[in-house]
Amino acid sequence: MAKSNDIFNKGFDEGTQIKLYILHKYLQEWLPVFLKRRQKYWTDISLYDMFAGEGKDSEGVNGSPLIMLEELFPYCKTIKDESLRLNVLFNEVDKKRYEALKQNISEKLMECKNSEMCPKTKDCILKVYEENKDFKQLFGEWYPFMQNTAQLPRFMFLDQFGIKQITEDIFEQLVSLKRTDFIFFISSSFANRFAEQPEFQTYLKLNRESFDPTKPHHCHRVVFNYYKQLIPRGTEYYLAPFSIKKGPNIYGLIFGTNHLLGIEKFLNICWGINKNTGDANYDIDNEKINPIEPSLWAEHDISNKIQVFQNELKNKVLSNDLETNVEVYRWTFEMGCLPKHANEVLRELRKQRTINKEFRIASSNIHKLVPEKLK
Ligand SMILES: C[S@@+](CC[C@H](N)C(=O)[O-])C[C@H]1O[C@@H](n2cnc3c(N)ncnc32)[C@H](O)[C@@H]1O
Repeated sequence: MAKSNDIFNKGFDEGTQIKLYILHKYLQEWLPVFLKRRQKYWTDISLYDMFAGEGKDSEGVNGSPLIMLEELFPYCKTIKDESLRLNVLFNEVDKKRYEALKQNISEKLMECKNSEMCPKTKDCILKVYEENKDFKQLFGEWYPFMQNTAQLPRFMFLDQFGIKQITEDIFEQLVSLKRTDFIFFISSSFANRFAEQPEFQTYLKLNRESFDPTKPHHCHRVVFNYYKQLIPRGTEYYLAPFSIKKGPNIYGLIFGTNHLLGIEKFLNICWGINKNTGDANYDIDNEKINPIEPSLWAEHDISNKIQVFQNELKNKVLSNDLETNVEVYRWTFEMGCLPKHANEVLRELRKQRTINKEFRIASSNIHKLVPEKLK
């Protein structure tokens, strides 16, 4: 009989597929930032899949390792022409899964070698590392090297089972790395259920009172806020959650970056999945908004999340808490919203002549914006 966590034999369910979809879309955005740029300030780019699994499920659907490889193949010629080093590390602790993983990677690399995409170097241009270790041990071994090469771009996918791996220590180490974006997975329902138990506290110091018993479907937002408060005050760092419902349970992703472009890209993907809240694959606020059949009252078609955000933004601008366009957009991302949500407020305030400067209103590439006063 398949083990309850044997996701590879059972086939990836809808929740797993949404997680993989987000990974896939983010890689499609992240890779060109570093590989297509004309002037490159780095020689190495690294991707880490620390809980890699087998590579694909029993139906042949790609898991994270093969998704990463397929996204990299179109860049192999660029990597060769520009003498870059592209490191990809796959780790899987379970021996049997590790063996399956190695086999699936080797077949995928062979497929690429026989295709037009391969630059036909003697050895594969991708530096693929395969490890069979416990995550914390491996992370501990690699971390000093990561710290010493902090200027190099990295992306990390941390697809743990449960809640035990991304402890406070690991999280703090992750966010202190420059140019490292990550996505990690966590079983938030599990955290909700077991928060009281002493064993749980050795992993996460979340307590039962943090969770609202009337809103179990919000538990990933609670877990997210717990990680968010670990970010040292005054640090420019962006986090975003995405809640995933699988049957009665809620899981979720947490994305982290210290770059405005990273958070902009991640949030665009999430809002592309859910037009009302941008942070779940279900109706997280139970609002029953139907974009196909709008209601009679326009305000009923705007989610509570957007309304609360817009009211708060208006207050912050009026009270000079946010003084420049860049401050507005930074705060917008921190609230998990997009520039277009902020722009509705900015335009309204301009119309009312409450803010009258001709500062730049932008809907993308916020990292390129020059700060301008709103008043
Ligand atoms: C959710 S699965 C990963 C699925 C994979 N990312 C994919 O998309 O196909 C989690 C994997 O982590 C492995 N794992 C569990 N504990 C681990 C640990 N401490 N260190 C490394 N891998 C671990 C499990 O054996 C399992 O294959």
